[in-house]
Amino acid sequence: MKLTGKIVLITGAARRIGREIALTLARRGAQIIIHYNRSYKEAASLEREIRQLGTNAWMMAEDFSAQKGRIVPAIERFVKRIYQRVPRIDVLVNNAAIYYPTPFGKIREKDWDELMDVNLKTPFFLAQAIGSKMFKQKSGKIVNLADWTGLRPSPDYLPYCISKAGLIAATYGLAKSLAPYVQVAGIAPGPILPAQGMGKRQTKQAAARRTLLQRFGSSSDIAQTVRYFIEDTDFVTGALLPVEGGALWI
Ligand SMILES: NC(=O)c1ccc[n+]([C@@H]2O[C@H](COP(=O)([O-])OP(=O)(O)OC[C@H]3O[C@@H](n4cnc5c(N)ncnc54)[C@H](OP(=O)(O)O)[C@@H]3O)[C@@H](O)[C@H]2O)c1
Repeated sequence: MKLTGKIVLITGAARRIGREIALTLARRGAQIIIHYNRSYKEAASLEREIRQLGTNAWMMAEDFSAQKGRIVPAIERFVKRIYQRVPRIDVLVNNAAIYYPTPFGKIREKDWDELMDVNLKTPFFLAQAIGSKMFKQKSGKIVNLADWTGLRPSPDYLPYCISKAGLIAATYGLAKSLAPYVQVAGIAPGPILPAQGMGKRQTKQAAARRTLLQRFGSSSDIAQTVRYFIEDTDFVTGALLPVEGGALWI
């Protein structure tokens, strides 16, 4: 699929990896729907930067965790608002997520629900709502940002890892449900950007040591992989590509 003129929704696009994905795809001529939650200023600056590249950008706010068990109606309203502004969505990049430690034995239901709502329920129901329209338009791509720890869960982050394991299963299932018109792929990043609060040098060094390459990757490694799935092949679906410096092999 050529990106020129295509309309791409990226969740959590205002900062960090999402921002890099947005700019990478915009540089290829894609029009970007910038979903954001709290990062209004960063989203507005990204919108300006994308427009300066000569393509379109729209900002769309939504909190995917505020609904206390009623996230699906909010997602449906969010999708409806988007289709009031754009005629179609060609690509959905499920990037927004939350990540924090939940030591085993002290995991609260509130944390479990929040992590599942944002990291699993939201991307799944976005894919159902938007993927169904893509299926009708007989073309579309969905890219899910999972995590290598969805395959090798870490005991201090179990609900997060389980949410990402669910997203990996969703990737496989959605590929089947939306075939043959919509291709669905997942990316399993390793350490790319330290989470906020994980700034300590020792923690960062320990994460780097858990990769074969002994270092962090970059946002560009992930953004280029997203671009690859969209532009370089239409024959990949139901695939998960680890971009994790070989962390799975240690
Ligand atoms: N960073 C890494 O090294 C790494 C490693 C493995 C996997 N990943 C995965 O790669 C993706 C991008 O990583 P990242 O570190 O750039 O992500 P991030 O900074 O932790 O989060 C991305 C965005 O998600 C949005 N978000 C969080 N809670 C939300 C909510 N309740 N409702 C709506 N949006 C919400 C935030 O938007 P606002 O800022 O607008 O509030 C945030 O900027 C994520 O799926 C992550 O799990 C990252």
